[in-house]
Amino acid sequence: MVDINTRISEITLENPLLLASGILGQTADSMKNILESGMGGVVTKSIGLEPREGHSNPTMIETEHGLLNAMGLPNPGIDVFLKELKNLSRESKPIIGSVFAGDKEEFIELSVKMEEGGVDAVELNLSCPHAEGYGAAIGTDPELVKDIVRTVKRNTKVPIFAKLTPFSDIVDVAVAAEEAGSDAIVAINTVQAMAINFETRKPFLGNQVGGYSGPAIKPIGLKCVYDIYQNVDIPIIGCGGITYGRDALEYITAGASALQIGSAIYYRGKDAGALIVEEMKDIMEKEDIKSLVELIGSAQQF
Ligand code: FUM
Repeated sequence: MVDINTRISEITLENPLLLASGILGQTADSMKNILESGMGGVVTKSIGLEPREGHSNPTMIETEHGLLNAMGLPNPGIDVFLKELKNLSRESKPIIGSVFAGDKEEFIELSVKMEEGGVDAVELNLSCPHAEGYGAAIGTDPELVKDIVRTVKRNTKVPIFAKLTPFSDIVDVAVAAEEAGSDAIVAINTVQAMAINFETRKPFLGNQVGGYSGPAIKPIGLKCVYDIYQNVDIPIIGCGGITYGRDALEYITAGASALQIGSAIYYRGKDAGALIVEEMKDIMEKEDIKSLVELIGSAQQF
């Protein structure tokens, strides 16, 4: 028997996999399905103060090696979302509320509302690569990130996670988030990218620019986690291209304490979490690794 429990701040996870924000995290039914299918917890869709339609179609395409999306942060607004969240019975697995905002006042209001709505932690989306004025527009400035995280921490009690982008120097931003009291770093969000339709001589996506995810970005995510681990003491939640159990274990050896799974659901179906967990356990048994925690950061070459 191998032990794949892990811990992020005060949250214990029965397995290290969380549904990443953006996929199936908006309705009680979709989150319930994912929890029942083997994930250790769920990160909700990123939610803002007001309802938002998002970018015009097409908002997602599959390319040769990954998925490109420019959803544009569509969401029903926090008040409607929290009514939906009430319909989700928890089965003791953690729910992390993801929020996006244009300034720190909005981040505070959203985080407080998420906390009052019963989430176990709040993830600050400081990294969406394709929404003007939000996400990466804010999350690439270490001083701004420090200010946002510090003020959100002062106004909330639940753990706060900072989800970062690989655009800028992610280590500087991670250090700033830790100094401000962030309880964990989530690395990475999608990578800014584009696909072009040669026949029409136009970008495919309605928004032209999108965020790239899936297997192609795993090496980028691994490098970010590896570098952040050397510079912060808070836990890291690895994200980016984790599709199979071996990918998950690679992220753990780079320094991740937990993981987020997004595009794998597209590639492997809604049971991706359960499949990845089984593959992780099989590899650990073959390699005689008793506990996941002993693997964290084991590929680090100090
Ligand atoms: O548009 C979206 O919901 C994407 C968010 C993100 O990439 O952070």
